[in-house]
Amino acid sequence: MRTQVGIIGAGPAGLLLSHLLHLRGITSVVLEKRSRDYVERRVRAGVLEQGTVDTLVEAGVGERLLREGLPHHGIELRYGGAGHRIAFEKLVPGRSITVYGQQEVVKDLIAARLAAGGDIRFEVEDVEAHSLESDPYLTFGGERLDCDVIAGCDGFHGVSRPAIPEGVLSVYERDYPFAWLGILARVAPSSEELIYTRTERGFALHSMRSPTVSRFYLQVPADARVEDWPDERIWAELKARLESVPGFTLTTGEIMEKGVTPMRAFVAEPMQYGRLYLAGDAAHIVPPTGAKGLNLAVADVRVLTEALAAYFADGSTGLLDGYSDACLKRVWRAQHFSWWMTTLLHTFEDEDPYARRLQLSYLDYVTSSEAAATTLAENYVGLP
Ligand code: APR
Ligand code: PHB
Repeated sequence: MRTQVGIIGAGPAGLLLSHLLHLRGITSVVLEKRSRDYVERRVRAGVLEQGTVDTLVEAGVGERLLREGLPHHGIELRYGGAGHRIAFEKLVPGRSITVYGQQEVVKDLIAARLAAGGDIRFEVEDVEAHSLESDPYLTFGGERLDCDVIAGCDGFHGVSRPAIPEGVLSVYERDYPFAWLGILARVAPSSEELIYTRTERGFALHSMRSPTVSRFYLQVPADARVEDWPDERIWAELKARLESVPGFTLTTGEIMEKGVTPMRAFVAEPMQYGRLYLAGDAAHIVPPTGAKGLNLAVADVRVLTEALAAYFADGSTGLLDGYSDACLKRVWRAQHFSWWMTTLLHTFEDEDPYARRLQLSYLDYVTSSEAAATTLAENYVGLP
């Protein structure tokens, strides 16, 4: 079997790459170890930057997103007994974000690929990448797929990054001493906009998926287990953290899903080796506080598509050679922003009273200075 681009992983990165390549007349095969049902149901992030929405719409996979996605023109920062709105329409006119679940993006992309006769293999076993320097190929479940280029879109725990010889990659990482407990609940959101809350009990986030489904996150200890968090405890803790301003009541409902996400930052440089190109979580992870993970994956894929289009058009390798450098600028900006949002809003066990006062002082600055609020807003909606 032969294709132009062998793609490992059917997450947002791998699926979007396959779709964008198809629009340029470039063939690909996507190899995914999980089932279609599993990847379509996996509940993940849900904030799409303007640039991500534009990419999906221009690629013809934005119809449901435009219909069902929820446009947001601001977020609330809540701390010290008061809420403060970061107003995108005033601070970054014309730019906004759209709340639309990652698994909805995945469903739309799978549907588009299959409708166009795209080749996505689900539940493939033992995918391995070989001969990365030249004539690369993939093996899986006893089969062999020869390709011109391999795209490693298999997430943080995938096989493509470890296939790069030792000593090639520089790795930068940070583990946070806490995790997020994510909750999906069948209840109307208690607020129209996202609420990022800092309390002495820890961070909480009120987000949403639709007019009838809410999404919440609680800062929990790094070793927390879902079993430690029965529904009553979750609602009590969400109330204790979110009902920290006068007049706000959190509406409770049926919890449909809960899971613990570790908080981690990671970058592997360069994002390429020989004929292998890494995109999305395979190359970098951000803590979810800045809502950047999915958006970075889409940005990588945009750059990689242009580079591959040039390569397959006339054999030019300039853009491919510069792929990693072109992506890493945005990646590091997002790393800094995600670190900054995380530091601003979480409680750290080892933090002394001095550090706590600095954190509160910075929150006061961000919510009172237009320049500081603009910094937050322009990073949150995404740099062009
Ligand atoms: N073989 C085949 N597929 C694999 C393998 C493997 N060895 N290992 C992992 N995969 C698949 C996973 O099952 C998953 O479906 O690769 C896919 C990677 O998808 P994501 O983890 O969603 O990563 P990515 O597409 O880069 O999207 C980044 O996802 O993790 C979130 O918050 C993150 O929003 C960001 C986005
Ligand atoms: C979500 O809705 O899942 C979400 C929103 C904002 C974040 C992270 C996750 O920062």
